[in-house]
Amino acid sequence: MSILKGRSFLTLLDYTAEEILYLLNLAKKIKDEAKKGKIKRRFEGKTLALLFEKRSTRTRCAFETAFGEEGGHPVFLSTNDIQLGGKESLEDTARVFGRMFSAIQFRGFKQETAETLAKYSNIPVYNGLSDLYHPTQVLADIMTLQENFGGVKGKKLCYVGDGRNNVARSLMIGCAKLGIHFTVITPAELNPDEELRKKCAVFAQASGSIITVTPNTDGVLGADALYTDVWISMGEEEKRDERVRLLSRYQVNQQLMNMTAKKETIFLHCLPAVKGEEVTADVIDGPQSRAWDEAENRKHTIKAVMLATLT
Ligand code: CP
Ligand code: NVA
Repeated sequence: MSILKGRSFLTLLDYTAEEILYLLNLAKKIKDEAKKGKIKRRFEGKTLALLFEKRSTRTRCAFETAFGEEGGHPVFLSTNDIQLGGKESLEDTARVFGRMFSAIQFRGFKQETAETLAKYSNIPVYNGLSDLYHPTQVLADIMTLQENFGGVKGKKLCYVGDGRNNVARSLMIGCAKLGIHFTVITPAELNPDEELRKKCAVFAQASGSIITVTPNTDGVLGADALYTDVWISMGEEEKRDERVRLLSRYQVNQQLMNMTAKKETIFLHCLPAVKGEEVTADVIDGPQSRAWDEAENRKHTIKAVMLATLT
């Protein structure tokens, strides 16, 4: 039985550094097994509700294939299919899910929805992205760093772009907890919020991580990895003009990659990418990019979260 059995995975704020490392070690084991063709039946007899208010390629496919290939039964439910705070209250839907499923994956707008699902279903709920956090993404990101650099403590990850979005926020928490130096390069208008920065400062103090927020692209100097995400996250489509105006000078292109002054710097992106906006095609499709390993690692890390919390 895992030390994490029965737990939800809603934000990395709820997990200690040791617990995050436990999940990453398990993900590595799972990946090694998968490469040897050793797929087991560890989710046999279990069911997973895959609840989506927003679109997804990687997260849905990772949960669905990781669960299904080990004998589990995933059920995809978009908000067009079910009552979710519409005709039926969210609490009631959660109570019913708790009677029919072993766990719930939720992707949507409010973090509060994921929390309410967890509270009323009494089964593990996994946050597959909310407006505030994207914790399963960050497990895959850190796994990819580990694969490239071995230990991640003391490495420098630079996030360039919308500094206040779900991915940037979750990266800040993960890096602060694991002792990874984290620099957010973003215009002041898109700075991560003070409350989160204060929380992360406490984790960083304990782990030795240095967290920096700056509008200057010079901040990439010495970075082991440059990371970016879309300028316009799902649900913010009306902000397009403003974001393009604010972020155009923060594009990750080969010139910015070279500004790290390290030839071994890798490029990461959670995907989907808008090539020609936040990153140029030559960088994401080029030799420094690890975006495709990172995408694959979504599956191994998500399987690790489900194994640890369900078996
Ligand atoms: N990175 C990620 O969450 O991708 P999807 O939106 O395709 O799930
Ligand atoms: N910040 C992006 C991440 C997509 C995986 C979004 O929320 O749309």
